[in-house]
Amino acid sequence: MKPLRVGLLGLGVVGGGVWMVLSQNAEEISRRAGRRIQVTAVAVRDVAKARTLLGPDVRVTTDGMALARDPDVDIVVELMGGDTVARACLLEAIAHGKHVVTANKALLAVHGNEIFAAAQSRGVMVAFEAAVAGGIPIIKAIREGLTANRIQWLAGIINGTTNFILSEMRQRGLPFQAVLAEAQRLGYAEADPTFDIEGVDAAHKITLLASLAFGIPVQFDKVHIEGIASLASEDIRHAERLGYRIKLLGMTRHRPEGIELRVHPALVPDTCLLAQVEGAMNAVLVRGDMVGTTLYYGQGAGALPTASAVVADLVDVARLHRADPGHRVPHLAFQPESMADIPILPMADVRTSYYLRLRVDDRPGVLADLARVLAAMGISVGSMFQQPHGEHQADIIFLTHEAREGDVDQALQTIAGLPFVHSGVTRLRVENIN
Ligand code: NAP
Ligand code: HSE
Repeated sequence: MKPLRVGLLGLGVVGGGVWMVLSQNAEEISRRAGRRIQVTAVAVRDVAKARTLLGPDVRVTTDGMALARDPDVDIVVELMGGDTVARACLLEAIAHGKHVVTANKALLAVHGNEIFAAAQSRGVMVAFEAAVAGGIPIIKAIREGLTANRIQWLAGIINGTTNFILSEMRQRGLPFQAVLAEAQRLGYAEADPTFDIEGVDAAHKITLLASLAFGIPVQFDKVHIEGIASLASEDIRHAERLGYRIKLLGMTRHRPEGIELRVHPALVPDTCLLAQVEGAMNAVLVRGDMVGTTLYYGQGAGALPTASAVVADLVDVARLHRADPGHRVPHLAFQPESMADIPILPMADVRTSYYLRLRVDDRPGVLADLARVLAAMGISVGSMFQQPHGEHQADIIFLTHEAREGDVDQALQTIAGLPFVHSGVTRLRVENIN
């Protein structure tokens, strides 16, 4: 059979990885795919740099749009990043009847509905295994392995850069900036690392996972996003003392009233498998009503793990590209006509437990007053401890039982106005998942 001719848009960390995987494992891959998979054209900005890696048979251009419509390319793989040129090139490739593969979660989280609809009407595949959790085949697991289940919730460490930073800060006491620079050097961080630090990258990924899990359109604009930039190292220490680790979590949960969709730092019990995930590793817990809880773990970023997922998509396309479109797995796991319009819950209606830290006067009655405010909003305290601060003040740390976020916000507003409270209240969510 003729080789599958691949056009690569981008030859950076991931594109370079794809080139290496296809070269190094060519034989094993073609035994699985039933034909050779061969990169025949590449689009980059710096042609001379790309030439140093590629063989003489590969055409190199700076014109991604021309590559997208090139009749000598069977499948277009977008590894440029961004959502302007990348979007235009993918839509162009689809319009020309080409299957596409992308690792670009930012693009799909924002423009996915448009791209999937275009692909649907042209009968082509959009494969994006590498867009979530790098080398972990989480999309295949949800889209195919768990189809018998109603997914109840999904919680993941889905940004390697922030997990690397949190791990290094906790284990080695290193400062935030130094660890971020190391993550950039290792190729984990996005072109704009604020996407990682501010939780935006994880939000792109949880958007896609929620769509796959619940059969809803992609709705990045509805994700509640908090990053790790303002996380204090004392909260990492207090959390440890309480038996928790702080992780940047992507969470989505199907409740009777709607879907929770959120990214934020959270305390996770240190006995929970997610708490043990360190460095740039990723892990996703998925709870299905029939299968129970399942866990997926592996490298979430970097050239070869991400390329492993891209090439797996290429093999899928090689196997299926002549199949009747109706016989392929739907892009978002559910048949397009069966997508549901389930509301995304506002954060005020999310229910979880909370870690609260505040600095107060250290005198009789203070604790009782704080407990009264929490009780008035129906918030029950699970545990607390106090740490002296100078002679007359103390830091108080509460762990609450599950409460409604809107009620916690209201209680914290009252607490912040009390005369014996000397700081803003630090509020972190606690996810007692197992
Ligand atoms: P990267 O190292 O910055 O590489 C980007 C590549 O795209 C470069 O070869 C660049 O060419 C080329 N490029 C950018 N804009 C272009 C344009 N307008 N026309 C032609 N070529 C263009 O990025 P990356 O880390 O490989 O990431 C690629 C994508 O994979 C992103 O969507 C990212 O979010 C996603 N991803 C990355 C990882 C990871 O671990 N890095 C993991 C999962 C997903 P020049 O080099 O010539 O400038
Ligand atoms: N910047 C991303 C991360 C790359 O750190 O996880 C993988 O998507």
